[in-house]
Amino acid sequence: CGIVGFVGQGNTKDILLSGLLRLEYRGYDSAGIALYSHPFTVVKSVGKLEELKKKVIASKECVFPCSMGIGHTRWATHGKADEKNSHPHLSMNKEVVLVHNGIIENFVDLKNFLQEKGYSFYSETDTEIAVNLIEYFYLKEKNILKTLFLVQKELKGSYALAIMFEGDANTLYAMRKDSPLIVGKGENSFYIASDISAFLDYTNEIYVLENKEILSLSENEIHIYNKNKEEIKRSSTIANLDQSRIHKGEYLHFMEKEIFEQPHAVKDTLLYACGKENDDFSYEAFSMSERDFKDIRRVRIIACGSAYHVGYVLKSVCESLARVPVQVELASEFRYNHPILEDGELVISISQSGETADTLAAVKEAKKFGAKTLSIVNVKGSAIAEESDFVFYTQAGPEIAVATTKAYSCQLVAGYIFSILLAKAKGKIKDEETHSLRDELFLLPGKIQQCLSLDGEILPMAKKLKDSDDIFFLGRGLDWAISMEGALKLKEISYIHCESYSSGELKHGTISLIEKDSPVIALLSQEELAGKSISNIHEVKSRGAKCFALTMENISIDENDFVQNLSVPSTHPLFAGSLLVVPLQFLSYQVSLLKGLDPDKPRNLAKSVTVE
Ligand code: G6P
Repeated sequence: CGIVGFVGQGNTKDILLSGLLRLEYRGYDSAGIALYSHPFTVVKSVGKLEELKKKVIASKECVFPCSMGIGHTRWATHGKADEKNSHPHLSMNKEVVLVHNGIIENFVDLKNFLQEKGYSFYSETDTEIAVNLIEYFYLKEKNILKTLFLVQKELKGSYALAIMFEGDANTLYAMRKDSPLIVGKGENSFYIASDISAFLDYTNEIYVLENKEILSLSENEIHIYNKNKEEIKRSSTIANLDQSRIHKGEYLHFMEKEIFEQPHAVKDTLLYACGKENDDFSYEAFSMSERDFKDIRRVRIIACGSAYHVGYVLKSVCESLARVPVQVELASEFRYNHPILEDGELVISISQSGETADTLAAVKEAKKFGAKTLSIVNVKGSAIAEESDFVFYTQAGPEIAVATTKAYSCQLVAGYIFSILLAKAKGKIKDEETHSLRDELFLLPGKIQQCLSLDGEILPMAKKLKDSDDIFFLGRGLDWAISMEGALKLKEISYIHCESYSSGELKHGTISLIEKDSPVIALLSQEELAGKSISNIHEVKSRGAKCFALTMENISIDENDFVQNLSVPSTHPLFAGSLLVVPLQFLSYQVSLLKGLDPDKPRNLAKSVTVE
């Protein structure tokens, strides 16, 4: 979910709506705003933001000027996506209204407590419990700050809350734990939001609210308090983020824009790790020392979604170059698998947002076992980065489309660099090889650029696949790892059932699903595995499958085996995924468009999933 807030001189209603538009990637099941008035004006709507806009325009209450308000865009967790469960939530006596991102874990206990005090509830949300708890203490203490400190002690779980009190017409309050909250300073005004992009059109002067801090904002004043109730003096900083990074510009969708941004993003990530093109990659880019790398005896990767697929690529590359064993685990499973972490095991979390709740919880769990933790994240200062001992920041820039493209590509590159450094520290590769791998990596942005021109060739393939019910993706080794991402991308934005299978495993079960015209997409980039993979393709073809190939150009195939073959430029086989994934992204994007869907906002999904 995403939250926004505004206080000061400005058109509050428009500022909130434009902020919510930028935060829609965080969820779009419903949206709502509350404006300060007597009583509060609350407008909510199910579905995308457009629906809320229509209601706000039609509302008589929303025409009055107002200098404070809050807004929310929701990805449903507690309670279905209907209006009563949408935010903002009002307290029973209408003294308090708030918006919430996160999850209150002890909401059942708190609900019982409040029920005993005479409170009743209209929704199924944990947020309604939070707003009433605040009201309960507020009516008792008659002091807002005291109330918020008391509430902070009671709430378990994660939250970023933006709160207005009926008794305070000029001050917006906020508090956070494990969910992000950024403050923007405008002219005679302040903004708050889950992500800076919500107010970047108005200001880039920001304050970052740290974990467990409480904030009060009025037109010209900002006060921040730590959990010991002490006021903190904090200076603002200027965010070095160009507005064009959060606008679609000439592109139809953010996904398309982000696919095209990949050469740049990958190059920036490479440069982040070495400063200049001919310099060596530095251990410090991972905020680690050579000693830290030398001490690594095993690697455990924890991540979700696409980032989890990056884990499998990293496993192949790292084991091949550094000969250090790597285990990949879904972050949501890690905690419940009774993890055994050995001495010298480095736990690497991979996350674009840096706030995925499952991944964050897994990092915390790993730390309990005393493991050293490294995170590869895209969002600076995010919870996962802060929780980890070491961090590498991918340089993808803001990624808005729900289906990741450029962040995934940057994560791959971060994984390659990590593997090269580990191999170097372990003495598994000599300087010469280290340099030739680095040089090969610096050729990738140009080769990704070449892949971007495959756009037109993919369209006929997309047309042939768009009406399929099921699509099978096949690959061996690294090709399998990349095919997992290809299948996920296509299923999430086209709603076609897609699965990826290891080519060799096919004959042990899945082949029974193959019938006449079953679409199969085979990935072939690994020369030493190509022969075996082609035999597997013959197995499905002889059972009627319609096969498409995605190859690296040095792999020779019999074109007659395939309806269509697309090939990407050659690179070191360990880095092939960075090129193969581009046509797979295009394929998903085009199938989604051909089906008349919105590739940026696929149903039921959100980009940052801040619940476990
Ligand atoms: C969500 C998104 C996925 C993403 C996953 C992990 O489920 O829909 O596209 O891969 O979260 O996100 P993260 O921010 O941790 O990389």
